[in-house]
Order: sequence, then C-alpha cells, then structure tokens
Amino acid sequence: MSAVKMDGKALSDKVRGSILAETEALKKKGVTPGLAVIIVGNDPASEIYVRNKEKACAACGFYSEKYALPAQTTQDELLGLIDQLNRSPQISGILCQLPVPDHISEQAVINAIDPKKDVDAFHPVNVGRIMVGSFDFAPCTPAGVMELLDEYGIDPKGRECVVVGRSNIVGKPMGMLLLHRHGTVTICHSRTQNLAEVCRRADILVAAVGKAGFITPDMIKDGAVVIDVGINRDANGKVCGDVDPAVMDKAAFMTPVPGGAGPMTITMLMKNTLTAAKLQNGL
Ligand code: GUN
Repeated sequence: MSAVKMDGKALSDKVRGSILAETEALKKKGVTPGLAVIIVGNDPASEIYVRNKEKACAACGFYSEKYALPAQTTQDELLGLIDQLNRSPQISGILCQLPVPDHISEQAVINAIDPKKDVDAFHPVNVGRIMVGSFDFAPCTPAGVMELLDEYGIDPKGRECVVVGRSNIVGKPMGMLLLHRHGTVTICHSRTQNLAEVCRRADILVAAVGKAGFITPDMIKDGAVVIDVGINRDANGKVCGDVDPAVMDKAAFMTPVPGGAGPMTITMLMKNTLTAAKLQNGL
C-alpha cells in the first residue's frame, strides 16, 4: 500500500484563490490588506522564505513592504522600525523573519509587535489566546496542518496525536490546536524515552524535528496519517523532510516535501493578514 499524498500545493492554490476574492471585495470598501516583512542579515533559507512571502502577497492582491536590513542592524534600530510599522495604517500585519542575528533578542522583537498585527501569532498575548482556545490568529505552520487534515477528512477527535518537536513556532502550538480538536496529544522531544514506541502509537504523527529522514518506517503504525513539517537538505543539497520517504508504504496519508505542509504555512500567513486587516477596520 502507498499512502495518499496530501497535496499542500493544490489546497494552497485553492485557499489563495478565496483570499484573493475576499481581498477584491475588501478593496471595494477601501481596505487593502498590507503585510510588512522584515529580514535582518542574509541567511539564504530566510531569503527564500521571504521571497515566497512577497510572491504570495502579490497572488492574494495584498500591499506589501519588504525591509532587508544589514546583519549589523542594532536591536534599537529594529525595534524603531517595528514601532513605525505598528503605527502605519497601510500595514495590517508585521512579520520579522526568524532567526535574527545573535546580538538581537528574538523575544524582544516578538514582544515589540502589536498583537493585533502579529500575523505569526508569536506574541505572548496571542500565545496565551491560543492556549485558552480564543484566538484570531493561529500560528501559520500548525494552522496549515489543520487545514490539510480537514481537507482530507481526517478528524483528530479521540485519536492518538503525536507531535515530534516542541518549538514555540510549531510543536507546542501544533499540540494545542490538535487538543482543541479533541485529539489525545503527546509532544515528544530529544529527551523522550522510547521515542519509536511513542510514535508507533500515533494515528496522526506530526514531525517537526529539523533532521532529514529522522522518522523511519519502524516508528509508524500501519495506516497512520503522517504530516512532515521539516524542511531540510539532504547530502546532495536536495530539499527533504523529517520523514523517510519509505514511510509512504506504511502510512495511509502523508504530506510530501516539498509540496505538503510548506505551501500551506505561507497561505495561512496570508489568511492571518486578511483577518488582521478586517479586524483593524471593524469588518
Ligand atoms: N522562521 C521560520 N519559520 C518562521 C515563521 O513561521 N515566522 C517567522 N517570522 N520566522 C520564521
């Protein structure tokens, strides 16, 4: 048996189409969603992500501003720019691409963004809202995974959901979103004992580890749903996920890399930016 490939590109195109339609209707009311993207330094992976975010803004009919700042930018300069964008009426959402250089505090940057414009949902106010289940913005990667599960008719209710990785960006909020949908959630990490055994319990497994091929077929229950959030490069420089492709033969559903969870992440950023624009205009 080979798993059904969960096509994140196709779903992403569909959702972007409906965002574009809604944006066109908003523009008639005088509101244009606007996203500001900040990148500090020249990390090559971040540069690719930022370029894709700009392209997605264009595809959704948004206004966008890009700030490519040199690596030696001071924290005060960056916080000054964020303050200016917090007050800019053209800007509905602000995203500062992470990681930032070591001399800048990531948390200080996150804390500086107005929670109403925090389309990443990284600000402690938004993190708290996610925890209590009353939120306007869901973090983009976990939100994209939930949309993919819904699209393929996979309901987490009552199922064993295992998330491998406990980052603030993916693992922790992924666990919360699955819990809100009544999944039985286990979050694993580098100190988890008997990791393979815990993974084998999963009806739905989300891999967010950042290590190529980390999840192998022996860690998968027959017929599981396997969501691969990893974006890594193999020894030949080819983009690959956290899940060994051989898992396709054991899983019932699986996201490919590229073309699975990745495109959905950026699309959810667009959705959050649209939501921010509507809320800021009382719509
Ligand atoms: N770096 C890697 N993923 C993300 C993300 O979702 N948002 C931001 N701001 N930076 C990232």
